[in-house]
Amino acid sequence: MPDLMEAVTSLAKRRGIAFQSSEIYGGLRSSWDYGPLGVELRRNIRNAWWRSTVQLRDDVVGLEAAIIMSPRVRAASGHLDTFHDPLVECLNCHQRFREDHLTDRVCPNCGNTSFTEPRQFNLMLKTYLGPLEDDDAVAYLRPETAQGMFVDFSIVQTSARKKLPFGVAQIGKSFRNEITPSNFIFRTREFEQMEMEYFVEPGTDETWYEYWIDRRLSWYHDLGVSKDKLRLRRHEPDELAHYAKAATDIEYEFPFGWSELEGVANRTDYDLRHHTEASGEDLTYFDQETKERYFPYVVEPAVGVDRALLVFLLDAYREEQAPTAKGGTDTRTVLGLHRDLAPVKVAVLPLSRNDALVPEAKRVHELVRHAWIATYDDAGAIGRRYRRQDEAGTPFCVTVDFDSLQDRQVTVRERDTMQQDRIPIENLVSFLRERL
Ligand code: GAP
Repeated sequence: MPDLMEAVTSLAKRRGIAFQSSEIYGGLRSSWDYGPLGVELRRNIRNAWWRSTVQLRDDVVGLEAAIIMSPRVRAASGHLDTFHDPLVECLNCHQRFREDHLTDRVCPNCGNTSFTEPRQFNLMLKTYLGPLEDDDAVAYLRPETAQGMFVDFSIVQTSARKKLPFGVAQIGKSFRNEITPSNFIFRTREFEQMEMEYFVEPGTDETWYEYWIDRRLSWYHDLGVSKDKLRLRRHEPDELAHYAKAATDIEYEFPFGWSELEGVANRTDYDLRHHTEASGEDLTYFDQETKERYFPYVVEPAVGVDRALLVFLLDAYREEQAPTAKGGTDTRTVLGLHRDLAPVKVAVLPLSRNDALVPEAKRVHELVRHAWIATYDDAGAIGRRYRRQDEAGTPFCVTVDFDSLQDRQVTVRERDTMQQDRIPIENLVSFLRERL
C-alpha cells in the first residue's frame, strides 16, 4: 500500500471529506475545509461523543460558551503568562520551529544545526474588540473550550440542580497560533474540541481520573479503532500543563509515529480557585449533606474533533483484492468506518436509468432517507458504484432491478463482506435498522 497518510489525504480530497482551505489562493497550511462527506463524518463523531458523554448519563450536562470571552478569563486561567511554546530560529535559513519538535537539533528545512536561543511564544490568537486597536481592546480567541465551564460553574450547577460529582460538556472551536501546524488535520491553528469538566469532591479525584481514562479509551475501542494502535502515556511531572496534577495521553500510532489523540487531566481546583480570586465571585460548592464548602477538583477528558476524524480515517482505510463481474479481481479501497460514524448509511442504486426503474428506486430512496443519511446514485456501471460507496464507507447499498418491479424485493449489499441479500421492500427499513 502507498504511504497511508498520503493515501488518506488524497482520498479525503477526492471524495470531498477534507481539503485545504482557500485552495484557489494557494491554500493555508493551518486551515482545512470539510466537504459534504466530511461534514456528516464530523456530525457523527460529535454525536457519538455527546451520546456517550451526556445523553446516556445522568451526571453530565451541556454548555455552549462564547469563543471570545473577557480577557480577564485568560489572565486568571494562566494562559496569558504560561501558554507558551519554545520558539527557535534557524541561523542559516531563518525558518522558525518549535524547539521540542526538532529531531537532534537539526533544521528540517536546510539541515543546519545552529539556532537562536529559545524564546517563549504565546500561542493565543489575539484580536481587538471594537474600533480602537489599543491595549484596552485586546481579546483572545479561546485556546481551549474548558474555561467556559469554569467561569459558568455556579450558574450551571444551580440551574441544572446538580450535586457532585457532575460534569459539564462542550463542543466547539478553539484556536492556537501553532508554530508548526503539520500532518494534514493533526495540528492546525483552528480546530474543534470536545471537552468535559467533571467536578468531584477533593480526595476522590484520583479515582475519577482513572475512571475517565478507562471510559475514554473504551470509546475508541467501541467505535472500532484498532486496540493495538492505541496506548496510554502518563505524563512526567516536568511536562504537565500549568494547571495539572496528573495527565495521561491516549496515543494513536499515526503513520508519523505515536502521538497524542486525546488528553485526560486532573486539573485539581486550579481553575475554580484562580477565577474566584481574580473575579471576586465565589465559585465554591456547598455540600448539603456534610455542610462543607469547598472548591471541587476537576477531571477533564479533552479531544479534537479533527484529530479524532484523522484517526478514524487512518484506522478505517484499507485496500484489498475483490472479485470483479468479469471473473477477475481488482483492488478496492474501503473505509471500514463504524456504522455510527459512516457519513452516508445507505446508497440506493437503480440498476440502470431505465424509465421503468427510476420511480421505484426514488420511492426506495424516500423510504430510507427518513431514517438515515442516504444517497441516490445512478451514474456508471453498478460495480463502479459499489466501489464508490466502499471508499466513502457506506455500510449498505440497495439495488433496485427489473425483478424488483415484479417481486417487490431489492438487493442489499453489505460493505465489508460484500454479501448480498434479497429483501422485500416492505421489510427494508427494519432489516437496515437491525444492522445500523
Ligand atoms: N483543555 C485541555 C486541553 O485543551 P490539550 O491537550 O492542549 O488540552 C486537547 O488539547 C486535545 O485537543 C488534544 O488531545 C487534541 O486532540 C486537540 N488539539 C489540541 N491542539 C490541537 C491543534 N493545534 N490542532 C488540532 N487538534 C488539537
